[in-house]
Amino acid sequence: MPAPSSAHPSPAASGEAPLDPSLLAEIESALSAFLAESDIPANLRAACLHAVLAGGKRLRPILVLESARAAGGSVSDAMPAAIAIEFVHAFSLVHDDLPALDNDTMRRGKPTCHVAFGEAMAILAGDCLLALAPVAASRSRHHGAEIQRELMSGTVRMIAGQVYDTLKGFPEGLPEARQVELIHHNKTGALLEASCRMGALAANAAPSALDGLTRYGRAIGLMFQIVDDLIDATQTAEHAGKATGKDAEAGKLTYPGIHGLDGSRREVERLRAEADAGLAPLGASGARLRALVDFLATRTR
Ligand code: IPE
Ligand code: IPE
Ligand code: MG
Ligand code: MG
Ligand code: MG
Repeated sequence: MPAPSSAHPSPAASGEAPLDPSLLAEIESALSAFLAESDIPANLRAACLHAVLAGGKRLRPILVLESARAAGGSVSDAMPAAIAIEFVHAFSLVHDDLPALDNDTMRRGKPTCHVAFGEAMAILAGDCLLALAPVAASRSRHHGAEIQRELMSGTVRMIAGQVYDTLKGFPEGLPEARQVELIHHNKTGALLEASCRMGALAANAAPSALDGLTRYGRAIGLMFQIVDDLIDATQTAEHAGKATGKDAEAGKLTYPGIHGLDGSRREVERLRAEADAGLAPLGASGARLRALVDFLATRTR
């Protein structure tokens, strides 16, 4: 997929690393420490470790931590929320890949959880990660109850989005373009928006910062799934680390399917500007989140 042209500076040009390596290392160690201390059988732990630690961009925890930093908070105060949302994300992927849903055999360049551990264990590992998430989030220093509520409301919206994606159930008469928007805002957008809001809550953010981060999260949430659809339509499985070319074959409603490749890229550009507008109340402290938008709009895996 060619990178869309834009007036925005690239992350490198703006001097900001979109995925701060030291933050990534902190996230990895917090995820593995939490799973290591959980009181679960060794075979279940192995399946959970496979689902959580076998690669991944860590976008959602990064959004939690960078939103917290942008709102004046600390990484350590936001880390419980950051790992909690990654546990929900990992659960969503394990179940998304099951034969009853997308029936995929490769994820992050490795065998999917049910291929490696069997279907029964994959279902239970997903259940376990979903249940561990609010336990992790409850360790938040500020607004623990609100953070758990954001996490679980975002999870319900993600599940609703998976139902729209797989089993339909749309409001009657909803045009296809609105159907795909509803799927994407929910199945993917909900957890990205929740990540930003959880970060703001962990930082005890002012209402204007919370509102701006919510607007940002909603825009990048939809954009992220449009780019995922573009990746499915244009990239190889080897490059993406997961099967591609499957959405059309499975009859999924996608942005490229409804708006074409160019129309989808135009929508990515519109959402990029919308995300930037959300960051306006944060001023200079929004620089890293601004750089992240460029990365998310142009990623190819
Ligand atoms: C994949 O999410 C599922 C979607 C919501 C499109 P990511 O692309 O964030 O997956 P990882 O965590 O980096 O593997
Ligand atoms: C997944 O959407 C969204 C989830 C809630 C997991 P996709 O089914 O398009 O994600 P990939 O392409 O398998 O990562
Ligand atoms: Mg799916
Ligand atoms: Mg899938
Ligand atoms: Mg996809």
